[in-house]
Amino acid sequence: MSLQGKHILLGVTGGIAAYKACELLRLLVKAGADVEVMMTKAAAQFVGPLTFETLSGKPVAEDMWDPKMRLPHISLRKNKDLIVVAPATANIIAKAANGIADDLVSSTLLARECPLMLCPAMNVQMWRNPATVRNVRTLKGDGVLFSGPEAGNQACGDVGEGRLREPAQILEDVEAFFTPSILSGKKVLMTAGPTFEPFDPVRGITNGSSGRQAAAIAAAAIRAGAEVTIVSGPVCVSYPDKAAVIPVRQAQEMFEAVKKELAEHTPDTFIGVAAVGDWRPVEYSESKLKKEKGQDTLTIKLIKNPDILSYVGHSGLCSAVIGFAAETDNLAENARKKLDSKAADMIVVNPASAIGSTQNQASFVTKNGIEAKELSSKAELAEEIIEALADLLKKRVI
Ligand code: C5P
Repeated sequence: MSLQGKHILLGVTGGIAAYKACELLRLLVKAGADVEVMMTKAAAQFVGPLTFETLSGKPVAEDMWDPKMRLPHISLRKNKDLIVVAPATANIIAKAANGIADDLVSSTLLARECPLMLCPAMNVQMWRNPATVRNVRTLKGDGVLFSGPEAGNQACGDVGEGRLREPAQILEDVEAFFTPSILSGKKVLMTAGPTFEPFDPVRGITNGSSGRQAAAIAAAAIRAGAEVTIVSGPVCVSYPDKAAVIPVRQAQEMFEAVKKELAEHTPDTFIGVAAVGDWRPVEYSESKLKKEKGQDTLTIKLIKNPDILSYVGHSGLCSAVIGFAAETDNLAENARKKLDSKAADMIVVNPASAIGSTQNQASFVTKNGIEAKELSSKAELAEEIIEALADLLKKRVI
């Protein structure tokens, strides 16, 4: 519920992308926001007000002269934390840039007392028209926020910039607006996913780490203003677009990539989320190992891998070092030992069953003690980790 307690006014203007505003409204409400909708007459040609009314659970404002509402543009703007216009047509952008107030939506924008986020959607030529370019520049200069537009296929058959940003991404931009930039200017280096240690060209030793927790931490760190680099083993999850991703396979490759990043980019923080294989096969066969007749067992000798977290912790190169511990027994005690042995500032300890799952129940172990967290989604836990990280960095400065 990242938007719990936030009051948002969603303006819908008349473009074919108006149907996507329904999904945006649903996502905003799901995230806990209290949303009121206002729409232009043209928008109502594309999607009926009843749809928005049902999704928001509130009457939809359309008419400047609605006898039930006294001065609707004034009452609508009251007690709002943000106004989002999606889709924002070239017309509403032009009106907002020039202070024109000739219908309910444009009048409310002019009367607003809170920040405004516009999500443009229009034909590529309209978007490129010097008048629109001028208007967008004016609005940005006035401090208006923009989410999108994106490039791609357009409803009219043209291809180019002007598509409405996907509702899920607009939601991310809205969440980012409400997230204080507690990691602004900070560089975060992370390891993520499993490692894969081959013993022949097709087989190897790995584990079930999905990279989900790391993806959630990266997204939360980016929202908090950090620059994020992820050294990742083989995963299927997608990391945030804004993260720099360095794909690796084996623990040793992960180690080399981390050392290079430490030397070249001096990150402030290291978060070891990866489930790094502790061992790798001593020998690698260039040819696929065959089953011999009568063979019942196969012995693979293993050798220890470098401990990346321990290396970074003892190097003293980062101001904050966070590690993970997936344990089956004595969670707190094992995490405390790891905090010391790896010279980390915090260990996030969770039951081993969290690996590959969408939920997590973790405790944060620091030199000050242990703090147990509620069972939550990996995204929620990620937010708490980022808040704890911001605290660690603050204490370092003092
Ligand atoms: O020792 P253990 O594997 O339980 O420690 C887990 C923590 O150490 C995780 O943060 C993991 O990313 C990190 N680790 C590492 N390199 C290893 C083993 C673990 O960075 N070889």
